[in-house]
Amino acid sequence: MSSISPLAVKPLNVLGLPGLLHGCDYNPDQWQHSPEIIEEDFRLFPEAGIGVLSLNIFGWARLEPEDGRYDFGWLDDIFERTERGGRKIFLSTPSAAAPNWLTHRDPEVLRVREDGVRLLPGGRMNFCPTSALYREKVAATNHALAARYGRHPSLALWHVSNEYHGTCYCEDCEAAFRLWLQRKYGSLDALNAAWWSAFWSRTYTAWEQIRAPRARGEGTSVHGICLDWRRFTSDNWRDFIAAEIAAIRSGGSSVPTAINLHPGGLHLDAWRITAPTDVISWDAYPAYHDKKEPWATAWNPVVYQSFIQELCRALRPGQPWLLMETTPSSANWMDVPKLKRPGIHRLTVLQSIAHGADSALYFQWRAGRGGEEKFHGAVIENSGGPGSRVFADVQSATDALTRLAPVAGSLGSAEIAIGFDWDNWWMQSEIVAQGGRGRSHYPWEQLDLYREHWENAVPCDVVDPSSPLTDLGRYRILCLPQHYLLRPGFVDKLTAWVEAGGVLLTGVLSGWVDDNDLVFPGGMDAGWRRLVGLRREELDHLYPEESNRFVCQSGNALGLTGEFKAIAKLEINHLEAAEVLATYGDDFYAGHPALTVNKVGLGFVYYQAARSEQGLRTALLAALWRRHGVRPLLPLGSLPLGVTLQRRVAADGQEFWFFLNFRRDAQTVGLHDRTGHDLLTGNPCSGELTLAPYGAIVFVPR
Ligand code: GAL
Ligand code: ZN
Repeated sequence: MSSISPLAVKPLNVLGLPGLLHGCDYNPDQWQHSPEIIEEDFRLFPEAGIGVLSLNIFGWARLEPEDGRYDFGWLDDIFERTERGGRKIFLSTPSAAAPNWLTHRDPEVLRVREDGVRLLPGGRMNFCPTSALYREKVAATNHALAARYGRHPSLALWHVSNEYHGTCYCEDCEAAFRLWLQRKYGSLDALNAAWWSAFWSRTYTAWEQIRAPRARGEGTSVHGICLDWRRFTSDNWRDFIAAEIAAIRSGGSSVPTAINLHPGGLHLDAWRITAPTDVISWDAYPAYHDKKEPWATAWNPVVYQSFIQELCRALRPGQPWLLMETTPSSANWMDVPKLKRPGIHRLTVLQSIAHGADSALYFQWRAGRGGEEKFHGAVIENSGGPGSRVFADVQSATDALTRLAPVAGSLGSAEIAIGFDWDNWWMQSEIVAQGGRGRSHYPWEQLDLYREHWENAVPCDVVDPSSPLTDLGRYRILCLPQHYLLRPGFVDKLTAWVEAGGVLLTGVLSGWVDDNDLVFPGGMDAGWRRLVGLRREELDHLYPEESNRFVCQSGNALGLTGEFKAIAKLEINHLEAAEVLATYGDDFYAGHPALTVNKVGLGFVYYQAARSEQGLRTALLAALWRRHGVRPLLPLGSLPLGVTLQRRVAADGQEFWFFLNFRRDAQTVGLHDRTGHDLLTGNPCSGELTLAPYGAIVFVPR
């Protein structure tokens, strides 16, 4: 019989390794002239608790000092040392930063800006994703790396490039766009029809006439081309990524791959660009402790972090994801690179773990002595190292991650989801800007809804509802605010789910246009109109200082009472099958339905015809949870403002409740008869929990 107690066995994480991973970007390519530094790094990794090294991210010039001549010596050395210490490597393909010998000799690999000017050599993420030469050079390098290290026992993941983002407007990219359009539409007639190009005489009579939309040319007058250009850009990156991975596979490596999503680069459709990869990862640089209590402000960066991390989950349902980068201290590129206050770093890490991450890695291990990031926070800063405050903060994260090993591999389990997708985001925020330029409220409406769940201990996913990866059957309630554009087949999928008992909450600016941004005849998709039981007539816009009123009908099905402000965008609709819960109180459309419910099969469709202040969301969601059997983890009102509770559930049903206190002062939370223990301390928990300032408890219910 084995002498290992089952409790000592660590569950496997998303990469099939035991426990949670703790690591960092490691750039020994910058330190080859100082072997003593590399010695010191490997001496200090165990002291800091670093188990994973992301290597070679910007190592191309060191790896391939001249065309076709590879120098593997320095990487061999790091692989050996890593293996000796029992650590793991995330090996990067170095495509994110091209070496000067390449960009100087072959400037056509460089990106062309929106204004038509080609970049000069310099910086990073500056290449054209269509360039055949760049793809060829990247493939050769990736193949060589895979052939040499692809089966190394220390290799745990391919970190493919770094934070893909941006758009290239070169002629090759435009030609690739035309091919993409030819494949999509087949004929110019179909394209002209889809783009409604008779408008302003924009009809295309030859494929060559199609250029990338940009300020100097086709600005935003033809919405279809703007949407297709964005879709193409994401698909073009997807192809580039697929080609990078194909070269890794042809080099003989079957180790999983990931791309680290760029927090500011979310203009690319993450569903499209992550499709060729095995594992989701993203880089988080929150600054939520900077000013006063953030939940007091309309823009809540703490909740935004959580929201994006739910999105990481949604990209690969049923799988944890990796936090690939965060800073243990400040980020030099921020307007005010404020230090993370004591406790914040550990809390940031725990927030990611709470939302489904199986790792926490940093940018970076050691700050360089030169270059743009020399003053960026790092585990070892130029003036830091063991004994420093930051180093101790990293050690506190090590301690937490070690104790949380049982969480590895566990997933979320929500009964509610909020819909978010890039087509809708682009259309409403960048292209159509319906609702007044700069006031699209997408995805603010999503964030405002998410926040109610975050504050009330109601697990909530963020999903792309029309993605084939999204199984609506898992959810009781789906919130689809401003779901303006409907993809083909989506209404059928949604209707089937509602008829089987699903509860849909949607509203203003939903169901208006098809996949090509053509308005449905009659103003709304026919299937959508049946679902909501309403007919749309007009959309009114109000100035910020103006408002209308939602006046709740007495005895309405949700038990809502009183009045709430209706603001910004207000649809004027007519009842068909739906039943009124509230009407507008003012103006020429007073008495028109403002909040309705339509019974469809076993399910219900709620429609909020205008944007509201948070008060209506609070009341409406609480009523929906109550009426449709969604139970918050703790009774409503249990969590103080600024404290959240997020849950992960292991395959065997074991639950982990992450209480996170984002406030500067201690907070207490009642457990309401539940008992268990805190995985972070081992202490038993019952009655009231006390959370330290910026503190956390990972409660394991009995
Ligand atoms: C990330 C990037 C890293 C580093 C970091 C600094 O976006 O991937 O290489 O530049 O920012 O915050
Ligand atoms: Zn290009």
